[in-house]
Amino acid sequence: MRIGVLTSGGDCPGLNAVIRSVVHRAVVDHGDEVIGFRDGWKGLLECDYLKLDLDAVGGILARGGTILGSSRVQPSHLRDGVERARGHVQELGLDAIIPIGGEGTLKAARLLSDNGLPIVGVPKTIDNDIAVTDVTFGFDTAVGVATEALDRLKTTAESHQRVLVVEVMGRHTGWIALHSGMAAGAHAVVVPERPFDIEELARKVGERFEAGKRFAIVVAAEGAKPKAGSMEFDEGGKDVYGHERFAGIARQLSLELEHRLGKEARPVILGHVQRGGTPTAYDRVLATRFGWHAVEAVHRGEFGKMTALRGTDIVMVSLAEAVETLKTVPEDRYTEAECVL
Ligand code: F6P
Repeated sequence: MRIGVLTSGGDCPGLNAVIRSVVHRAVVDHGDEVIGFRDGWKGLLECDYLKLDLDAVGGILARGGTILGSSRVQPSHLRDGVERARGHVQELGLDAIIPIGGEGTLKAARLLSDNGLPIVGVPKTIDNDIAVTDVTFGFDTAVGVATEALDRLKTTAESHQRVLVVEVMGRHTGWIALHSGMAAGAHAVVVPERPFDIEELARKVGERFEAGKRFAIVVAAEGAKPKAGSMEFDEGGKDVYGHERFAGIARQLSLELEHRLGKEARPVILGHVQRGGTPTAYDRVLATRFGWHAVEAVHRGEFGKMTALRGTDIVMVSLAEAVETLKTVPEDRYTEAECVL
C-alpha cells in the first residue's frame, strides 16, 4: 500500500512519535510505502511531499514539533480544493491518507472523507478537547510544563507579595488550567466553560491576603471570560481562520485585581512554551499506539474514522462523531477541584 501522512493545525508534543510509529508499522511490518505531505493540508493541495522511510524517522520519537511542518488552512480554501486533493491522491497512487490534527483538521478530514477520499484520522491537541477520546497526546506534556511554571512562579510571587495571573492555553475548554491548577495548588482558576464573577475572584484573593498569606496564584485559561457586564473586558476579534484572537485575560485580570485589591499583580503568559519541546513518556506511548492503530485501520479499509483512547483500549470512531461536539470539563470536576470559580 501507499500511505500519505500529514500534520495540520497547531503543533503538539507527540506528533513526531505518531509519524515514526506509522512508518515503522507500515514499512517494516506491512511492506508499505509512506510519504509525508509538508505543512499540513497545504502539502496535499500543492502536492508537496517527501518520502518517509526508516532513516527519515530515525531519532524523532522524543523530538517536539513535527518533522513534516504544519499550517492552518482556511476552511473555504480546502472546500474549494477537494477535487485538487483527489487528483493528487490518484496521481500519487495513494491508498490512504492519515491526517494528524485537532478539531479543525478533523473537520477537514471529515469533509474529504465525505467526498470519498480514503482517510484515517489521528487526534491531537494539547487542549484535550476532542470529545470522543478520553485524552489526546500533548495534553500530559502541556500540563507538566504549566505545572512546573506554576511551582516556580509561587516562589517569586511570595518574595514580592504579589498576585500572579498565569495564562495557560485552552481556547474553548479549561482542561490545562484545571489540571495544572490542581497539580500546583493554585488559589483560583478561571475557565472558558464558566464565565467568572470578578467580585468573587477579588474576594477570594483578598481573603487570602487578609488571612496572612503573602501571595496568590490565579490560573486563567486563555478563553476564560467574565460574566457579561461584570467588568470591562476586551474580547479581541477573529483571525482569518475564524479563530478567536484573544486580547489577553492575564493582562486584563491582573490590572483589575491590582486596582480592586491594592496589591501588586503581574500577568504571566505561558503561551507556546506549553506546546514545544519533548513529549512526556505518557504522550509518546499514546502517540505511538495511535500511529500503530491508524495503519491497522488503513489495512482493514476502515476509512472515515479516527483512533481514540477509551479506557486502556484504542478504538476507531467515526470522524462525523468525532467533530460533533467538543469535550468541555464536566461541572463536577470543577466542584471537586474547589479552586475553580
Ligand atoms: O488548539 C491548540 C492551541 O494550542 C490552543 O490552545 C491555542 O489557542 C492555539 O492552539 C494557538 O494557536 P496558534 O499557534 O495558531 O497561535
